[in-house]
Amino acid sequence: MAAMRKIASIPFLEGESAVLHVSEEEILPSGEFVTVTDKNIVEFFAPADSNRMLKMPPGETAKAWTSVEKILNFALSLSLGRDGMMLGFGGGVVCDVTAFAASIYMRGCRLVLVPTTLLSMVDAAIGGKTGINFGGSKNILGTFYPANEVRICPKLLRTLPDWEYKSGLAEVIKHAMLEPKKYGLLDILLSRREAILSRDSRILNRIIPAAAKIKADIVSADLREQGRRAYLNLGHTFGHALEGATNFIRWSHGEAVAWGIKKALDLGERMGITNPDWAKFSRRLFSEYGFDDVNLEVESSKLKEAMIHDKKKQGGELRFILMRDAGEVTVEKVNQFDLDSVLEIRNG
Ligand SMILES: NC(=O)c1ccc[n+]([C@@H]2O[C@H](COP(=O)([O-])OP(=O)(O)OC[C@H]3O[C@@H](n4cnc5c(N)ncnc54)[C@H](O)[C@@H]3O)[C@@H](O)[C@H]2O)c1
Repeated sequence: MAAMRKIASIPFLEGESAVLHVSEEEILPSGEFVTVTDKNIVEFFAPADSNRMLKMPPGETAKAWTSVEKILNFALSLSLGRDGMMLGFGGGVVCDVTAFAASIYMRGCRLVLVPTTLLSMVDAAIGGKTGINFGGSKNILGTFYPANEVRICPKLLRTLPDWEYKSGLAEVIKHAMLEPKKYGLLDILLSRREAILSRDSRILNRIIPAAAKIKADIVSADLREQGRRAYLNLGHTFGHALEGATNFIRWSHGEAVAWGIKKALDLGERMGITNPDWAKFSRRLFSEYGFDDVNLEVESSKLKEAMIHDKKKQGGELRFILMRDAGEVTVEKVNQFDLDSVLEIRNG
């Protein structure tokens, strides 16, 4: 790799590190690689050497087996060797699908990710989970395959639509709730709201590495999600149900997760598990970043069905990730009555 100006280096999993860059010009690695990206990103950034670049259609539909086949065929057609490199240059979709293809190409080739959305900088590109959607289920095929390097350049976010930026902010808030004392992230969220919402580059240079580090710390202690890594799914049982019930179009992932975390706080409070002061504080934090209570435009009973279906598919009981207090997480069995109550389903 070429020498680069780094303003922070975040080593975490063995052989994997995330590097925060100051310059867009230096964001691509040197050497022989094939780039996977999407059509929107090429419009803004046009990575070098278009002969070695595969453009996917933007959006979740590209997280499919057909994309993996295309990437593998493309790499073979360019005679990419096992010591060659795949470069995923894009949001979470590009990162997930490129990483999956890299993990199976010649039993695993080198992988560098350059995330271009806030969500992928602090979440999808970090921690080695790869995946595609298959048979109608999200992320049902995948591997654990950490990138050799994740190259982060916050300046790439200036072209990101507001809806996508806000989606990433929900994950940043979630990371701050899970680790409120680490890297000053919660304090920055509380004190620099305007600068964060206006994407001030000095603030982005602080919140992105902090949020990415929090994820890296959690994952490095539990790569294969035997324990603590599952806490990163706070609010996701509710959130996935909302996304699924609205065909992944109406609500962004971040909006669905923010709503889901608020529901998890309601549930925890109702069950006497969550400290009401923490619940109130967290709800207000989401609301300050524009995640207000909204009409979901979906029946609560449908959401409940989706959640139960999801849990059954995972072979599990109705267990939810709940918070006791700031930074304190627990996994609890939940009864139907409490769930109905927070979803405002009236029985009888
Ligand atoms: N592997 C993991 O641990 C993990 C964690 C969280 C989410 N994910 C996955 O990430 C995916 C969502 O990722 P996402 O939110 O980044 O969505 P995305 O990759 O679909 O990107 C969102 C949109 O923004 C466009 N875009 C990307 N960067 C841009 C830029 N800099 N300027 C302008 N437009 C840009 C894309 O073309 C796309 O249309 C989901 O599939 C989710 O399952 C994976």
